[in-house]
Amino acid sequence: MNPRKIKEKIHLMGSIDWNARLFDELIPLPDGTSYNAFLIEGSEKTALIDTVEEPFFPELENQLKDVAKLDYLISLHAEQDHSGSIPAVLAKYPDAKLVTTPKAKGMLIDLLDIAEDSIVTVADGETLSLGDKTLEFIHMPWVHWPETMVAYLKEDKILFSCDFLGSHVATTDIFVTDEARTYEAAKRYYAEIMMPFRPMIKKHLEKLDSYPIDIIAPSHGPLYDRPAFILDAYKDWVDGTLKNIVVIPYVSMHQSTHKMVDFLVAALAEQGVKVELFNLTVTDIGKLAITLVDAGTIVIGTPTVLVGPHPAAAYCTFLANALRPRTKYLSIIGSYGWGGKAVETLAGMIPNLKVEILDPVLSKGYPTQEVFASLQKLAETIAAKHKEQGFV
Ligand code: FEO
Repeated sequence: MNPRKIKEKIHLMGSIDWNARLFDELIPLPDGTSYNAFLIEGSEKTALIDTVEEPFFPELENQLKDVAKLDYLISLHAEQDHSGSIPAVLAKYPDAKLVTTPKAKGMLIDLLDIAEDSIVTVADGETLSLGDKTLEFIHMPWVHWPETMVAYLKEDKILFSCDFLGSHVATTDIFVTDEARTYEAAKRYYAEIMMPFRPMIKKHLEKLDSYPIDIIAPSHGPLYDRPAFILDAYKDWVDGTLKNIVVIPYVSMHQSTHKMVDFLVAALAEQGVKVELFNLTVTDIGKLAITLVDAGTIVIGTPTVLVGPHPAAAYCTFLANALRPRTKYLSIIGSYGWGGKAVETLAGMIPNLKVEILDPVLSKGYPTQEVFASLQKLAETIAAKHKEQGFV
C-alpha cells in the first residue's frame, strides 16, 4: 500500500497482513491484521509513530521513499509487531532519535539490540513540538505490556493508541466502515489481550475523558473517526453490567458429559438464561474469550482422564484464569468411570477468578435421573443468582 492520507500532513503507513492467522503462536486471527505506522510532517520536524513487523519492512521502506529526513521515530510499545523494523528505520535515518518511555528504553535495547545513545525517553505528559504540530505523550502502562504509552496530536485531536483500542482486522478501509464487524474484532482483541489488565484500563479510559478526540488511530485495524464507538464499548466491557449468559466450554469422550451438557443447556434456556456453548475440540478459542468478557457464569464440562480433567478442559480453565474475566459464578459438570479428581484439579486452577463456586454435578458413567435432577437444580440456581444480580 502507498501512504494513505488521514489529515493534512498525517499519513497512515505500514502493512496489511491478510494472511496472519495466529498471533504470538497463540491467538487466532480469523480476519488477519494490520501493523499501522503513522507519518506526521510538522512545519519543522518529521516523526514516524511505530513501525511494522520486521518481514514487512520493505513495504514501509518504500512508503518512506520521499521522506528525506526523519527527526523522530516514536515507539509506543516495544512488542516486535510494532518495533521489529526500528533497527532498519534507524539504519535508514541514522540521525533520527528514538522516542519512548523509560521502561521501553531497556526493553528495546534487550529485544532489538538498539544503541542506547539513539534513544530519548519522555515523561508522562511531556510534549514534543514538530513545529505546527505537537505530540503529547501519555504513559499508559499495561496495555498490554508494562512500558506502553499513547500519543496525542493536539492540533488535530488524534490519539495514537498502538495496541490499546485496536482490532485484528485486515482491511483497506482507513476508518471503520462496518461497526458490527469491528465491534466483534475489537471485543475479541480486548478479551485476549487487554482483559487481564482491566483495572489499569479503567483508569486509562478515565484519563482519556479529559482529551477532546476526533480520531483514534490504533496500530492494528481500522481507525475510528467516531471515537465514542470504541470508547463506549471499552467502558462497557471493563465496567458494564454483566450479561444473563452462561458460557459452557466442554469436551466429552463417550457422550456422558455431552448428555449432561445438552440437558443443562435446555434447562437454562427454559429458565430464560442465554447459553454460549463451546465444544473445546473444535472451538475458536477467541470466540470463547469474547463471551467471557461479560458472561455472568461459566460451567466447565469435562470427562475424567487419568484421574484428572480432560486436557482440553484444563487448557480452557487455565486460559480463563489468565484472562481474568469478571464472571461471578462458576461450576463444573462431568463424568467419570471409576473415580478421579477432575473437579478438585479444575477448582484449584482458578485463583484469579473471583467467583462463587456453585455445586458441581458429577456422573458415574451415563447420567441417571438423579444427575439430571441435580443439573436442573444447577440451572435454577444460576437463573436465580443472575436475577438477583440484575444481569441483563
Ligand atoms: Fe500489537 Fe502488543 O503488540
